Amino acid sequence: MNLSPVEIIFKKRNGEKLSKAELKFMFEGYVAGKIPDYQLSALLMAIFFQNMAVEEISDLTEIYINSGETIEFPAEMHTVDKHSTGGVGDKISIVLAPIVSACGAYIPMISGRGLGHTGGTLDKLESIPGFKTDFSRQDFVKMVKKNKFAIISQSEKLVPVDKKIYALRDVTSTVESLPLITASIMSKKIAEGAHNLVIDLKIGKGAFIKDMQQAKKLGKLLAVTGNHFGQKVSIVYTNMNSPLGKYVGNALEIKECVEFLKGIRANDIYEITKMLAVEMLLLSKITDKQKTAETMIDRVIDNGDALECFRKFITAQGGDASICDDTTRLPASKYEIPIISPKTGWIKSIDSQKIGYALVGLGAGRKQLDSKLNYAAGAYLPFKIGDKLEKGQELGKVYCQNTGSGEEAARKINNAYLLSGTSVKREKLILDITR
Ligand code: URA
Repeated sequence: MNLSPVEIIFKKRNGEKLSKAELKFMFEGYVAGKIPDYQLSALLMAIFFQNMAVEEISDLTEIYINSGETIEFPAEMHTVDKHSTGGVGDKISIVLAPIVSACGAYIPMISGRGLGHTGGTLDKLESIPGFKTDFSRQDFVKMVKKNKFAIISQSEKLVPVDKKIYALRDVTSTVESLPLITASIMSKKIAEGAHNLVIDLKIGKGAFIKDMQQAKKLGKLLAVTGNHFGQKVSIVYTNMNSPLGKYVGNALEIKECVEFLKGIRANDIYEITKMLAVEMLLLSKITDKQKTAETMIDRVIDNGDALECFRKFITAQGGDASICDDTTRLPASKYEIPIISPKTGWIKSIDSQKIGYALVGLGAGRKQLDSKLNYAAGAYLPFKIGDKLEKGQELGKVYCQNTGSGEEAARKINNAYLLSGTSVKREKLILDITR
């Protein structure tokens, strides 16, 4: 077949469906250096405006998957993974995986690093002295079989097309296209060998999806695409208007996770973790009853089994598991700068994006791909939307190595809180769920 890039771009620009052969020609051709970036950029923009049919999204996902290695687990393992669309203070994978594995499920988790203002699970884990995330496919499979879960970074060989296309989307303002997001997320989750998937689809100020209508559209595409490849998918829609938990920052969040697994539970983390864990236990056939799943989850936290799984996991990945007994072994900051509320009022909104970027300024996240992280930097932010603050009350703390930059971050974080003179209702955390 003689295919022409210009004709393919023309077809999509006019809202027509593209065949698998046409998509393959363009996307594989780009990665092989046969299609120039200006033509793939034009196609990405045409997709952004004209969308894709579900068959086109499945075809594109297949092209992504086939661009590299795939990992397989025996069907009877009923592997299950969780994916979060990302948020500030989102440490849920780090407590969820030990809890769900302590209940008996197998979790092959390939995770990401911080992106923009949101932190990444791998960066948080790497704040544990010695902890490694770059393992071969064979070692990953072995660790999942032995310890029931492992969390590693994406190798260059898994879905290599995504890395190149994501970089091009980033500089052509086409990241927010729902079909392109779907192919990018689902190809990785299918290639890693997860038979089942729970998606924590975050909506709100701190997330890249801002409203429920968009979230529902994306949720449907993710589920239909997963189902096409034989993967069962549950979507939990959660509120991301306030940072999650009480701490933001890599080592601080690990400390919070250890405390959580010892039974000190921040309400929001507990509610979301429990909901996601229930879905994972149902999908992986550990139980078919929601009530039983809930009882199992509380039991493995209360009897220390989940903490024990976390310890084994840290050791298996080269880390110092004694941080579970003594969290002062984690990197710590020199200074604590208080953040003082300038007036009395109820918290009406929190701009989590501003908080995320204030902490990137301290090195808790990356400004550039190769930026070195300051694992100890971060903030303690215990108050949520609906909480009341008094003038002069400590709203939180910034942890830093340098008082000048710490004070600047404290100022920026203070500006992220909008207070109201009248009381404000607390917000629901779990907004919806589709199975
Ligand atoms: N996360 C991904 O992995 N890909 C996207 O396109 C968006 C979020």
